[in-house]
Amino acid sequence: KKILFASSETHPLIKTGGLADVAGSLPVALTGLGQDVRIIMPNYQGIKNCEPGRYLCTVRVNNCDVNLLETRLPDSEVVVWLVDYPPFFDHPGNPYNDENGNPWPDIGDRFALFCRIVVEVAMNRAYLDWKPDVVHCNDWQTGLIPALLSLEEQRPATIFTIHNMAYQGVFPASTYNLLNLPGQLWHQDGLEYHGMLSFIKGGLSYSDRITTVSPTYAQEIQTPEFGYGLEGLLAHRQHDLSGIINGIDINVWNPETDQKIAQTYNSKTLPKKALNKTALQARLGLPVSAEVPLFGLIGRLVDQKGVDLVLSCLKEMARMPLQFALLGSGDSSIQVRLQDFARLYPDKISITIGYDENLAHQIEAGADMFLMPSRFEPCGLNQMYSQRYGTLPIVRKTGGLADTVVDVLPQTLADGTASGFVFNDAVPGALMETIKRGLVLHANKPLWQKLQRNAMSKDFSWENSANQYLSLYREI
Ligand code: ADP
Ligand code: GLC
Repeated sequence: KKILFASSETHPLIKTGGLADVAGSLPVALTGLGQDVRIIMPNYQGIKNCEPGRYLCTVRVNNCDVNLLETRLPDSEVVVWLVDYPPFFDHPGNPYNDENGNPWPDIGDRFALFCRIVVEVAMNRAYLDWKPDVVHCNDWQTGLIPALLSLEEQRPATIFTIHNMAYQGVFPASTYNLLNLPGQLWHQDGLEYHGMLSFIKGGLSYSDRITTVSPTYAQEIQTPEFGYGLEGLLAHRQHDLSGIINGIDINVWNPETDQKIAQTYNSKTLPKKALNKTALQARLGLPVSAEVPLFGLIGRLVDQKGVDLVLSCLKEMARMPLQFALLGSGDSSIQVRLQDFARLYPDKISITIGYDENLAHQIEAGADMFLMPSRFEPCGLNQMYSQRYGTLPIVRKTGGLADTVVDVLPQTLADGTASGFVFNDAVPGALMETIKRGLVLHANKPLWQKLQRNAMSKDFSWENSANQYLSLYREI
């Protein structure tokens, strides 16, 4: 099959979160299964790690002349088409925010233009001599694609994957006219959402199939708590909706070959992992000790990630024999509160604000336990990276966390599936109790190594999930 994969970010070209990891690895897995996959994304100023785009053609949409450039994902054959329109995409900052973290005021115009270009490519009107069978769209930035394609005859099939229901791309009704969108799409079963324009509704209403990134999240988003007003629409489309768990790039996240960490190791050489802990402590200025239990956390510092629960536990944690290393960026109020704790307890708590891929690998390798107390989590990748590195995750039972981490219980210990710690309630007490549970087990070395080996032997590769996407492509 020919598959056009549309995404607003792709690792390692540009990344703000897990969507980029998926866009950078699922197409590679599908190519490995014999599919002809092309990625299409905007040509941002911040794109790196690839050859400069080669000019292909110019396409005119909505009075704009837009260039298409071609490059490849590094170390793979997968072609990436870059939608080049400098007034929209040639700016510092990330795909969604400027350098100060403020959302781009014209973000609706930017992704509407991107969607229109994807439609031209999908309909083979861009002179590329390649017409996809399936257009695979991801998150609200691509939501107008299924909507606009629904108006075309002989169109390719469409899949819309929800990576996060919390981001919907909702704009004032006036934007609708400014964007010159076709009137037929403006109604309650179309792009209109309570009198506003909703990009995500384009994907949810018009795509042939909807997927999300874990089976549990596929259920959750049909309820008001997780559906943010779209639970009715999702429940209505439940027969077209499925959850396919993300895989991870097992070459990038492999403790046996990882060049970013101080000491490589595998499940047979677990004692070597301690060298990563001491190297991390040295790098972060924490007291160096192979024995002290070290907790890690990496992520966007937003409400979703439950960092407020961690903040409520830090004072008590700082009184215990442990260390905590966090890497993240996001809400400035969360950043400030975290940094205050680091200043108060410099021997216990290290906070790094920023985005740092090397440090992310070093924390995964160096920590004993990884905190992911998310309030919701469509899939989550770090809990899978952690398990692969023998770093046991502490997670809240929601979304993909519930689907990928097996709590330590007598039963799961006996059958060899236990691979982390799971708690239910989004309250600090429940997190604190689970941290203590982790500390007790960590003190039992043979048992801990058993758990590490369970976690490290789990298969988080794309193989299974890529095959599930392939079945869907074939169905439609
Ligand atoms: P989300 O997509 O909601 O942010 P995921 O767990 O799916 O959550 O993916 C987050 C990805 O971004 C992971 O690969 C994680 O390591 C990475 N990441 C998040 N914050 C940072 C950071 N500050 N520095 C480096 N990597 C980060
Ligand atoms: C989103 C979700 C995260 C998921 C990622 C990739 O950003 O928040 O849970 O892992 O997309 O699908």
